Formats: sequence, structure tokens, C-alpha cells
Amino acid sequence: MRVKVLVIGGGAREHALCRSLSLDPDVSSLHCAPGNAGIAEVAELHPVDIMDGAAVADLAVSLGADFVIVGPEAPLVAGVADAVRERGVDCFGPSREAAALEGSKAFAKDVMATAGVPTARSYVCITPEEVDAALDAFGAPYVVKDDGLAAGKGVVVTDDLAAARAHALACDRVVIEEFLDGPEVSLFAVTDGETVLPLQPAQDFKRALDADEGPNTGGMGAYSPLPWADPKLVEEVERTVLQPTVDELRRRGTPFAGLLYAGLAITSRGVRVIEFNARFGDPETQVVLARLRTPLAGLLRAAATGQLAAYPELRWSDGAAVTVVIASHNYPGTPRTGDPITGLDDVAEKDEHAYVLHAGTRTDDDGRIVSAGGRVLSVTATGSTLTKARDRAYRALGRIGLDGGHHRGDIAAKAAQAAQD
Ligand code: AMP
Ligand code: GLY
Repeated sequence: MRVKVLVIGGGAREHALCRSLSLDPDVSSLHCAPGNAGIAEVAELHPVDIMDGAAVADLAVSLGADFVIVGPEAPLVAGVADAVRERGVDCFGPSREAAALEGSKAFAKDVMATAGVPTARSYVCITPEEVDAALDAFGAPYVVKDDGLAAGKGVVVTDDLAAARAHALACDRVVIEEFLDGPEVSLFAVTDGETVLPLQPAQDFKRALDADEGPNTGGMGAYSPLPWADPKLVEEVERTVLQPTVDELRRRGTPFAGLLYAGLAITSRGVRVIEFNARFGDPETQVVLARLRTPLAGLLRAAATGQLAAYPELRWSDGAAVTVVIASHNYPGTPRTGDPITGLDDVAEKDEHAYVLHAGTRTDDDGRIVSAGGRVLSVTATGSTLTKARDRAYRALGRIGLDGGHHRGDIAAKAAQAAQD
């Protein structure tokens, strides 16, 4: 069956989704709104306010789209997927109520408690007295999370009590929780609200600077697979985290159909959930989709239409993928935008196994591609080993110029070295 697909969003995640969809023979035409300068190469772009459910649904209907994929969390939490479905168009993305799993950390904690899902012990705090009591109860390092959506920047992890307290008091409602020690893993699962199909795990690099220094960001790079992880990890997380969470949301009458993203810490006492997201993660999607061989449109459509129970096993490349983010000057603070990006054609010409996915870019009045956001580009490469994929990603990245731009130099370095591949 050939489908006309509309993707909502305009970051590197949406570029990765559109790239995979453009390679899928079942996709007859591909549209993206609003998209970005890179997505324009594989999809037809349309302007839309992604937070306006009626406008997104109108666009889907006017295009005659068979299927809509909502990429970012903000429209999902605002109910944009519901608005599309109400107009009779299949949509990949959870309902407003189910997306609260990401939209409210307190809600996610409640679901996990009921479902028996392992996570950090936590307190939800509103008053300064509650904040002080919680900080005191857990001690350093302090973990303070804004309850609402904050684009990956609402979390402060610090040994500095004054900084922890200041962040807590700047938020209306915070979750203060136990510090989880151990490597982090991002595991995505495609679900129709009942059946859960985990994808391959990836690791993200959240801090801005090498060696995990500097402030938290939306994510500065990622790789997959994780050679150091227990081969049973995915099966364990499916059994102890993903399936119980999906079952609990269905039991509550608000089934979660879409992409369930579990951010996990592998602690000495076992796997713990750090957070849930209700959409594909960025930049992990870039590496997970680089390795997925199963055509994407059919998989996501089966999830959107409750047909995952009989879905064939997913197919993966045996190789590795690495992605490195180039961020603009001053990111994750207020980024400088409008800087020209050079070298993109060079990568397209010379790097057979690497490609650039655009995050915050646009074409200016002179036809130049310029930066338009904090995370600007994501350079992704594949290879038979992590070392090869990593070398290719950095070689391609070296051809790209962005005044004031910065990137991490150590994405996947430790894992590649440990795997000695
Ligand atoms: P979140 O937005 O919840 O993913 O948090 C952003 C980042 O903060 C995570 O990827 C972790 O690196 C860190 N973090 C969040 N919660 C904890 C925790 N309980 N213990 C240690 N680090 C955490
Ligand atoms: N990679 C982190 C996120 O997508 O939230």
C-alpha cells in the first residue's frame, strides 16, 4: 500500500524520520511542516503552527495525507495528535492525556509507582519548606526537575546546594529525587497501546562539553548499538518498564500509542527510569533509524492503527551508527543565529557513509543555509564498527564550517575504545 505521509516538526529528529521515510518504497509522497532547509531536500515543506491542532489537521486533510507523524513533544502534550485523529486521519503520536507521561514528571512518577516500574525515589515540591526538606533528605548530588516541559533544560544535577535550591524556587512545581549513578541508556519502543516493540538502545550525551562537563543540553551526540550493555537489557526493560507502563496507561483509559522513550540509568542496583518521553529522542533517533532496516512508514502506521500484535520482527543492520551535533555559539544559552553554514556539499560529495541532518537551519534571502537554532546540525555516519562510524562522522564534521559553532569531540569514544573494534 502506498501512502502519503505528513511529518510535523522541523528538527534533526524530523529530518531523520523524513530521510528514512523517503527511502521507504511504500511512501508515495512525503510532506513536512514546517521542516527546515535540509528536510526540504527530501520532502515538500508547508508552513504551519505546529501547536495549532486545527491547523495541522486542516493541512493533513487538504494534502489528502493518509498518515501524520507528530515529532516533537510540545504539540503532542497540547493534543495535536488527537486533533488530527478527530478529522479521520491516522496519526502516529500519543493523545494529550497519554503524552502527560512526558509533559508532567509528577504524572510519570505516579504511573511508575502504580505500575511497579523502578525509578528514583522522589518528592513533588511546591513550597520552599518542601524543597528544603527534600534536598536535605536526599543530600548531594542534588537532582531538581521542573515538573513541566523544558526542552531538556529543566533538570539541574549539582553538588551545590544553593544552585539546587535556586533552580527549585524558580519553578512552580518541582520533582526532587534521588541521584542515580551509572551509565545512561535511551530505549525507544513503538507501541499501539497494547503491544510493545522495542527498538535498539542508544546512548545520548547530554552535557555540552567533553568528558560530561558543562550544562545539560537537549543532547550533543549519540551512538548505537551499545557494545558494553548486557545483551538481555532490552528484554529486561521491555518486561519491567515498557510493557507495565503501557498496560497501566491502558488500564487508566488513556492508552499510549506512539513512541515511548525510556531514559534509563543502569545503576549498581539495577535499571531505573530517569524519565519518559512521548516521542522519538533527538539525537538518538538519528542513530537508531540509521540502523533500522524495517521500512518505517508501515511500522509507525501499524502502531497508529492498533496492528502491532502480528507485526513481523524488526530488522537491523549489524553495524554501528554515530551522530555528532554541531551547536551554535552560546548554546545551551540563548544561541546566536543567522551564521552561514559551509561545507555541506562537500560532505554530500565525499562521504559515502555520512550525512548531515539539519536541526536549526533555514535558507536566508540570499539562498544561503544559515543557523536558526541552538542545535544546528547533526552529522551521522554508519560503519561496520563503532570506531569506523565514529571516524566517518568526525571526518565529515571536519568539512563543515559554522562561525562560533561547537561540538563534542568524545561522542562514542569510550564505547568504541572499550569494544576495541
Ligand atoms: P531528564 O530531562 O529527566 O532526562 O534529565 C536530564 C538529565 O539529567 C538526564 O539525562 C541525566 O543525565 C540527568 N538526571 C536526571 N535525573 C537524574 C537522577 N535521578 N540522577 C542522576 N542524573 C539524573
Ligand atoms: N535525547 C534527549 C531527548 O530527546 O530528550
